[in-house]
Amino acid sequence: MPVLKNIGVLYTCKDEGKQSDIYPIKQAAMAWTDNKIEWVGHETEIPEKFFNEDVYDAGGNMVIPGLIDCHTHLAFGGWRGDEFEMKALGKPYIEIARMGGGILSTMKATREADADELIEKCLEHLNEIKKLGITTIECKSGYGLNVEDELKLLHVYRKLDTIQPLDIISTFLGAHTYPPEFKNDKKGYSDLICNELIPHIAEHELARFCDIFVEETAFTVDEARIILNRGNEFGLAPKLHADQLSDGKGAELAAETGAVSADHLEYISDEGIKKMKEAGVVAVTLPLATFYLRQQPAPARKMIEMGLDVAVSTDFNPGSAPSYHLPYAMSMACIIQYMSPAEVLKGATIKAAKALQLEKSTGSLEKGKNADFSIIQSPSVNQWLYNFKPNACVATWKDGRQIWSVE
Ligand code: NIG
Ligand code: FE
Repeated sequence: MPVLKNIGVLYTCKDEGKQSDIYPIKQAAMAWTDNKIEWVGHETEIPEKFFNEDVYDAGGNMVIPGLIDCHTHLAFGGWRGDEFEMKALGKPYIEIARMGGGILSTMKATREADADELIEKCLEHLNEIKKLGITTIECKSGYGLNVEDELKLLHVYRKLDTIQPLDIISTFLGAHTYPPEFKNDKKGYSDLICNELIPHIAEHELARFCDIFVEETAFTVDEARIILNRGNEFGLAPKLHADQLSDGKGAELAAETGAVSADHLEYISDEGIKKMKEAGVVAVTLPLATFYLRQQPAPARKMIEMGLDVAVSTDFNPGSAPSYHLPYAMSMACIIQYMSPAEVLKGATIKAAKALQLEKSTGSLEKGKNADFSIIQSPSVNQWLYNFKPNACVATWKDGRQIWSVE
């Protein structure tokens, strides 16, 4: 039974208590069998049965649950670096989309890329992502926008799940925007999603969630309701891109449809927060997208005070959030969303696990959970998220096995 000793501080991040309660244990140790945690506590109290076992040394560093990036658009063709100059000089995201850029330009590049190319590109990203201490990542489709290419993306994720160590959780986002073929036949596209894609994806277990972009320029609340309910009928739990660019009543729809999470939420109303709280919807905040689009930040303080679980994620995609660096998003959440580092740590671990319905198996360091953890070279979570470094993670462990270390 392996034991990790000499941990300067271990943050268990169990879900109970307030979002700021991360339950630190100083001079800690942790033991696990195969892939499950057996024991976590003070080094002086290690039970005898763990003596003389495989011993690993954390070097006095800090140990956190493996980070969970609960909202990404990992697989896409091309990039949109050519739009960056226009963006930097102030052209709005929506205007760039109207000029033929934005999601539709990525759709074109994604349709042109074959599955092997996409897998290769994702593997390059995942290889860096695991070095940041991330052990689970949610990945959305949404750049295919037709049957063939949406399924291609979901098959890419299925394959990735089997050929590299991180857990990949797939989400179907066929309702990201209307593809050009259906510009004048919105009902036709909704029918395609509801009658062809959702049943096929459910039957072949290609995704766990059904997501939709609710916004004036994408899907209306009424259009979204039909698609989310249909997904639900087939066992694909709802998720929403909600209230990102305006208060489009996405949060209210998330509550009404029993969504697992509503994500973005820069323009959420107080009523939306209340309804999400009543319905137990996790609020996923995406500070990099807020920052890159120069939006007002999601009201994380208010959401926490009103009792919501607030997760923090990257939204990695080629348009609004061109970085998979979750610790960067976490530091940003402290600054622009007025969250404490402890709240943010829970936001990228146990709250992110809840946003993926994985809280029973991962997201905290407790007996019975998966042995997913990361060793961070920093004396505390405060110092880690303050003194931002390219990478402070020195080792990542997934299911009880080291999947990366700096040496
Ligand atoms: O989460 N809001 C919609 N979708 C993405 C952006 C996609 C893109 O620009 O390619 C987001 O921000
Ligand atoms: Fe997104």
